[in-house]
Amino acid sequence: MTAMDHSALQAHPVRRLLARLGQQWPVLAASAVIAMLALSAGIDRLAVIGLWVFLALVTLLRRPARIVIERQVSMPLSVQPSPQASLRAVSAALGGLDAPVFVLNREEQILFQNGAAQQAFGCVPEGAHISARLRAPALLEKVGDTIASGHENRFELSERLPSERVYGVLVAPVEMPYGDGGRETVYILSFRDLSESRRIDRMRTDFVANASHELRTPLASLRGFIETMQGPARNDEKARERFLAIMLEQATRMSRLVDDLLSLSRLELKAHQPPAQKVDLVPLIGHVRDALLPLAEELDVTITLHLPDGKAEVEGDRDELVQVFENLIENACKYGQEGKAVDVTLTGGDGVPVEVTVSDHGPGIAAEHVPRLTERFYRVNVEASRSKKGTGLGLAIVKHILTRHRARLVVRSQLGKGTAFTVRF
Ligand SMILES: Nc1ncnc2c1ncn2[C@@H]1O[C@H](COP(=O)(O)OP(=O)(O)OP(=O)(O)O)[C@@H](O)[C@H]1O
Ligand SMILES: [Mg+2]
Repeated sequence: MTAMDHSALQAHPVRRLLARLGQQWPVLAASAVIAMLALSAGIDRLAVIGLWVFLALVTLLRRPARIVIERQVSMPLSVQPSPQASLRAVSAALGGLDAPVFVLNREEQILFQNGAAQQAFGCVPEGAHISARLRAPALLEKVGDTIASGHENRFELSERLPSERVYGVLVAPVEMPYGDGGRETVYILSFRDLSESRRIDRMRTDFVANASHELRTPLASLRGFIETMQGPARNDEKARERFLAIMLEQATRMSRLVDDLLSLSRLELKAHQPPAQKVDLVPLIGHVRDALLPLAEELDVTITLHLPDGKAEVEGDRDELVQVFENLIENACKYGQEGKAVDVTLTGGDGVPVEVTVSDHGPGIAAEHVPRLTERFYRVNVEASRSKKGTGLGLAIVKHILTRHRARLVVRSQLGKGTAFTVRF
């Protein structure tokens, strides 16, 4: 709370007198009736009128002691004794919000800044002009406009630094009542962070675009081959055999994609129901390795398991956990192929949190890609992944399954050395 122009915050004395008249008129009217009765009873006219005027003045000018006590006890905003107290009450309420808020005066000076505003825009010295912290011309223009016109303004503000953020901004005049009918206008500048919802919107549109693109590519190739077989290659037995093999591959790819999409939407539906089965990960990982042996042989990769002797039980859904480790180990074989070795290490169990790490010795993943790996259709290298029959949905499914299992996925990677994906239960 700061350097506010205190004299500017006082109500005009005539306004105060009129307000008081509004409150005390029943007392004045009743005493006037009594005065009339006294006059008609023949009591001295001058004495009666003099007494009534005296009473009226006392009633109007007296400070209402009873109300002062009430104010101190309950402090409702509408009866704050002074503009400063009223501003303190407004600021205390705004201090509890988690959205950044500033309170400004007519001169565009900051009277109050809440904790969220300090965090988002840094601490501003008391009484500083708003432009000391927020320099966007559009924002300053809207603040000026609201102060001049008395109308609220809503607009969007994009900040590039320190990080890219989008805010929905509102500048609104607020009347703070105080005392007996006094009013003071301050201006509330509040920010709603839209960055996250914008990011989700973008992801949603990207998702639809990606899904249709991924389906369109194999479909176009199928159509091309069908047309060729109906036309130029009608009687070419050898070409037909080759084309049919490619068509089968494309159709398999499409059905994989559709299966993955369905799997994602089913997982989304039950995101909030934690699984209730008990699953021992030791045999489960052995089973996944066995299922991936043909692929590993084809890629010339050796999968080595480092498993404890006992059990490693977690609460989970068996089929979903198989999907998680299948994708992690398959990725390690496909994308870390040049390292020729994949290690799967299980630690914990018997009361100690269980962790499974799948590591490869391949090319690694550059740091800027790591946070985006679990986005749908995100691939570090689209062509390389597609040539390995990847759809880019595997890690998105892994993340969904792990969220449902209250488990975390930690990725550590070093370029040229390899990547380790750890699942922490
Ligand atoms: N161990 C790894 N080493 C290097 N890059 C990896 C590794 N694991 C994943 N990636 C990168 O992350 C991307 C996303 O992996 P994800 O499993 O989600 O999709 P995918 O393997 O391409 O497709 P899908 O799993 O649906 O077959 C991959 O395309 C690849 O670029
Ligand atoms: Mg994958």
